[in-house]
Amino acid sequence: MLSKDTISRFQQLETPFYYYDLDVLRKTLAACHAASSKYGFHVHYAMKANFNPAVLDVIQSFGFGADCVSGNEVKAAIEHGFGKEKIVFAGVGKSDKEINLALDADIFCFNAESVQELLIINDLAKAKNKTAKIAIRINPNVDAHTHHFITTGLDENKFGINIWQLPEVVDALHSCPNLEFLGIHFHIGSQITDMEVYKNLCTRVNEIQDWFEDRGFEIKVLNTGGGLGVDYQHPDANGIPDFESYFKVFSDFLDVKPGQEVHFELGRALVAQCSALISRVLYVKNGLKKNFLVLDAGMTELIRPMLYQAYHLIENLSQSESQEIRKPGSGKEDPSQIIHYDVVGPICESTDCFQKDVELPQSYRGDLIAIRTAGAYGEVMASGYNLRDRVGSIYSE
Ligand code: LLP
Repeated sequence: MLSKDTISRFQQLETPFYYYDLDVLRKTLAACHAASSKYGFHVHYAMKANFNPAVLDVIQSFGFGADCVSGNEVKAAIEHGFGKEKIVFAGVGKSDKEINLALDADIFCFNAESVQELLIINDLAKAKNKTAKIAIRINPNVDAHTHHFITTGLDENKFGINIWQLPEVVDALHSCPNLEFLGIHFHIGSQITDMEVYKNLCTRVNEIQDWFEDRGFEIKVLNTGGGLGVDYQHPDANGIPDFESYFKVFSDFLDVKPGQEVHFELGRALVAQCSALISRVLYVKNGLKKNFLVLDAGMTELIRPMLYQAYHLIENLSQSESQEIRKPGSGKEDPSQIIHYDVVGPICESTDCFQKDVELPQSYRGDLIAIRTAGAYGEVMASGYNLRDRVGSIYSE
C-alpha cells in the first residue's frame, strides 16, 4: 500500500517511472532467507527478473548467489559483489564470447542446455587450460500448469536436454576432460503457485539422479530452478510469497543425499512486489460503449500485459479516497462512482492496453495511476520503441 506521503512525493515527479519500495524488498528477502536456510538450501537470484543496480545491491547484501543468462549479467553480478563461487550461468544460446568471459571469471557452474554446448565449453576451457564446472539442464517433462508462454519444462521445448538424450550426455561427459560434472539442473516454468507441481518435479528429479548414479556419476548439486509465483491480485494482503510451503515441499520430497547441495534460482518471487509502475492519465476518452484512460506509460514501460495477457492490479492514487468508498463491505459502496475504463498506453499499437474494463473511481487528466507488482520482468523488459525515453526509477526513502 502506498502511503499518503509517498503519493504526495510522486506529485512533484515527472512520470512514468518505476517506484521501488526497498523495505518491501528487504522483508521479502528476509522471509526467503529464513525459510531456505532452515534446510541449508542455497538460493541464487535470477537476475533476469530485475537488474536495477539498487535492487541488486540489496539482494547481494542478503548473501544470495546470482543466476545469470548472459555475459553481461555475469559481469553485473561480479560488479555488484556477488561472489564468483555463487554465480551460475544458464541459457540456451551462450556465445563463445560469453562462455570465455564466464571461464575467465571462474564462476561456480555452467548450466549446459545441449550436448553440443558441452563440447564447445570443453573446447574453450581446454584452450585456457581450465576445467569448467557443469550442471546438465534436463527437461523433466513436468507440466507447470502456468501460462503456456512461460512454461519451459515440457518435452520439445527449446530449453534443456530431453531425458531420451541423456545417454549422449554421458558419452560427452566421458569424452570431455575439461568438464567437471557437478550435478543436474531443472527449471519448469514461471509464476507457479500450485505446490503439487513442485512435488511432481521432486519425483522426477529423484528418478533422474538415480539414473546418473547407476552410471557411476556423483551428484553434488541438485538445482531445481525457480518459478515460485506471486499474488498479482492482492499485492497488499498477500505481499510475501509462500516461501515456507515452497521450500518445505523440496525438503519433504527431494531425495537429498548426505553432503549434497540443493540450489534454487528464484527471480519473480523475490522482486515482483517491491515495485509499481507509476504513470499519469494524459487523456480521458468517453465513448458510447467504452471509456478509455490514456496513460503516459505503455508497453514500452511494462510489456507483460500485452505479451502474456498478464494481470496487474491498477489503482488510481489521486482518487484513492473514492476507491475506499467503493470497497465492498465498506458500507459506503456507491455504484454510481464506479466507471469501467480500458486502461491503455500511448504507443501506436492496438495491443498497447494494460487491461480492459477496469473498475476505477471517476478519473481525470493528471491523476496518478499505479500498476502494481511490476518489480519482476518490468523495468528490465522496457524498450525504446517509438523512440520513447528510457523509463526512470525512484526509491523509497
Ligand atoms: N531459472 C531459469 C533457468 C529461468 O529460465 C528462469 C526464468 C528463472 C530461473 C527464474 O524464474 P522465476 O523464479 O522468475 O519464475 N518474462 C516472463 C518470465 C520469464 C521467465 C524466464 N525464466 C514474465 O514476465 O512472466
